[in-house]
Amino acid sequence: MIVLERLSKSFNGVKVLDNLDIEFDEKKITVVIGRSGGGKSVMLKHIIGLMKPDSGKVLISGIDINTLKKKELNEIRKKFGMVFQEGALLDSLNVFENVAFPLRRHLKLSEKEIKDKVHSILTDVGLNEQDNKMPSEISGGMRKRVGIARALILNPEIMLFDEPTTGLDPIMSDVINNLIISMHNKFKFTGIVISHDIPSTFKTGDTVAMLYEGRIIESGTPEEFKNSNNPVVKQFISGSMEGPILI
Ligand SMILES: Nc1ncnc2c1ncn2[C@@H]1O[C@H](COP(=O)(O)OP(=O)(O)O)[C@@H](O)[C@H]1O
Ligand SMILES: [Mg+2]
Repeated sequence: MIVLERLSKSFNGVKVLDNLDIEFDEKKITVVIGRSGGGKSVMLKHIIGLMKPDSGKVLISGIDINTLKKKELNEIRKKFGMVFQEGALLDSLNVFENVAFPLRRHLKLSEKEIKDKVHSILTDVGLNEQDNKMPSEISGGMRKRVGIARALILNPEIMLFDEPTTGLDPIMSDVINNLIISMHNKFKFTGIVISHDIPSTFKTGDTVAMLYEGRIIESGTPEEFKNSNNPVVKQFISGSMEGPILI
């Protein structure tokens, strides 16, 4: 369903993506790992058309999104739910209105329908009776859950999670991982999760892929990944200073 073909992108002469090839399996969760600053968020931004490649293709259901007109791209974007790294909640809106925002923007629903949908998804993510709280009044883990609820509210075919557990303690990370898994079971989206958190990666991924020096250097099941003989992969998952990855 989503294929990146020989995707390249440079900033100020520095290659961030370098002929990157990857296919994301439909209705599965693929976790992409890699170093900070390695181009993971840049890759995601290409998938939703927020960035244009220098060369290469982003194919969504066989369509190269960079050949589309703005209006057509907006149609394709409706297939996506995105959970941003920084949460990206609207600070001036309460929890309810943050989650209702995409509904108000894209659908013409009655106030009752909006209420029902928002409450249903807030229950799914374990946030009952938090409607009136402002983003500044809730914990980081709760903000992540609001972000996930908002991304899910239009029932997207594809969910993108940019480092959903970064900045959370290990227990809250596990809550978020379990939430991603349970929401995936319920809504059956194609999931792409960016992470540099190794335990989370092996727990949530059907497939794990590693981005390194602008390319996918390894991809496979979590089990295959743990047994990889690639020295770069081995060093990354063991978190060791020793190895081919330059610090
Ligand atoms: N809009 C931009 N303009 C210039 N450089 C950028 C831009 N976005 C990302 N970069 C650079 O691209 C590299 C990869 O960034 P990013 O994808 O955010 O890394 P990460 O793997 O941590 O998500 C970094 O060196 C970053 O500074
Ligand atoms: Mg990033």
